[in-house]
Amino acid sequence: MYHLSPETSQDTPEVEALMDLCFAPGRSALSSYRLREGVPPVLALCLVLRDDAGVLLGAIRYWPVRVAGKPVLLLGPVAVHPTTQGEGLGALLMRESLARADELGWARVMLVGDLPYYQRFGFAKLEGVVMPPPTNPDRVLGLDLDDGAWAGIQGDVERETRRDVVAGLAEIRRDPPRSQAGVDYDPQARAIIRGK
Ligand SMILES: CC(C)(COP(=O)(O)OP(=O)(O)OC[C@H]1O[C@@H](n2cnc3c(N)ncnc32)[C@H](O)[C@@H]1OP(=O)(O)O)[C@@H](O)C(=O)NCCC(=O)NCCS
Repeated sequence: MYHLSPETSQDTPEVEALMDLCFAPGRSALSSYRLREGVPPVLALCLVLRDDAGVLLGAIRYWPVRVAGKPVLLLGPVAVHPTTQGEGLGALLMRESLARADELGWARVMLVGDLPYYQRFGFAKLEGVVMPPPTNPDRVLGLDLDDGAWAGIQGDVERETRRDVVAGLAEIRRDPPRSQAGVDYDPQARAIIRGK
């Protein structure tokens, strides 16, 4: 059985190492990292996936950003260990975190990535939503969690700078008990086991 749970500070060094393994060197030079600097992540949506021996298999993170003054969730990075890629774990991280984002009331999500992968989760190219350069506009993708949430929203993607939002995110307790908000995942059945 695998276990999916919110990332804690104990997980963070391993998550960073996994991201380094899965992405090209210099990942922090990507324009999306400029939007994350000095802004706390949305911890409730940053998830880690471990096997029954505790080995880290995958992780996903989210940050808040703004477009045209509206709150937007920036998805990423997401990574699955190369030895377990192609087994549906990326889809598990995507679907579970997006369901939680929806439950928390977020209206819209964006990311920078390959449309052929992300369209299976409902993402489509965003027109007129501009990431800091250099970013290929074809890779700027969005998803409505509320119907029509992206309609009419265009402009530069900006760092979340509202003090109340940043302070609120920073106050959320970093290390809840590991069991909290965690779920088991049966990799054979490819099914989440809830409420044990
Ligand atoms: C992208 C990633 C998270 C997907 O995780 P995963 O567990 O391998 O994905 P899944 O098992 O859910 O899905 C596998 C499917 O996605 C496809 N896929 C994976 N990456 C893809 C990409 N960049 N473009 C198109 N399809 C892709 C696979 O070919 C496979 O297709 P199939 O279902 O037709 O066989 C993982 O491959 C990874 O960590 N890659 C390196 C880091 C990265 O690129 N992250 C995303 C950018 S933010």
